[in-house]
Amino acid sequence: MVSYTQGETDLNDETPGTNDLHVLGIAGSLRANSFNLALLRTAQKLVPPGMAIDIFNIAGLPLYDGDLEEQGDPESVTSWKAAIKAADAILIVTPEYNYGIPGVLKNAIDWASRPPGKSALMEKPAAIMGATPGTGGTARAQLQLRQTLAATRVQVMVQPEIFVATAHEKFDKEGRLTDETTGKYVSKLLVALAAWTARFRQSGS
Ligand code: FNR
Repeated sequence: MVSYTQGETDLNDETPGTNDLHVLGIAGSLRANSFNLALLRTAQKLVPPGMAIDIFNIAGLPLYDGDLEEQGDPESVTSWKAAIKAADAILIVTPEYNYGIPGVLKNAIDWASRPPGKSALMEKPAAIMGATPGTGGTARAQLQLRQTLAATRVQVMVQPEIFVATAHEKFDKEGRLTDETTGKYVSKLLVALAAWTARFRQSGS
């Protein structure tokens, strides 16, 4: 089943003109205890005033199949594309699998990119980050993700970059972030994403 999780942060209704930045969060792991999902949930709590992050669970998407697509998008794919289109920006949090991005994440991006010319991802502002218990911080996966997103014309923010290494030492058993420095970086990335998204609004893309 495909589902959303409503952002947990109260929007600041008193901040004029800023209470309207809707970010779609995507975790590239299907694990309930995923460090990447935990990082995304952390971001939900650290949003600046006016931003809200809803999480879309990509677990319900079928494997991309051109024959299936020809019969019409499955419901889960329709919801996925609609969620991206409705969002002002996207935030992808990816694990690293064998130096690259997980197949489930690539599959979700492939569905969203279809059909050519009508891609839900076209010119969508985005930020990425990733977490791993390893020491590489998902750097190689994030580079690969940038490459894939370039093909879809997603406008990925260049910096700040967030590579959460030794993630098992930075989250508690309930998935709560315990590392203050990581929290500060996530907050900075979200503020930068708000500014990045505003740039595209101004340019009318
Ligand atoms: C991994 N893992 C991993 N970690 C890493 O830093 N670099 C890598 O190349 C790989 N490769 C890899 C391949 C496969 C198939 C699996 C299942 C795992 C370990 C990975 O970072 C770890 O399982 C994380 O916990 C996965 O992210 P979530 O599920 O915690 O979000």
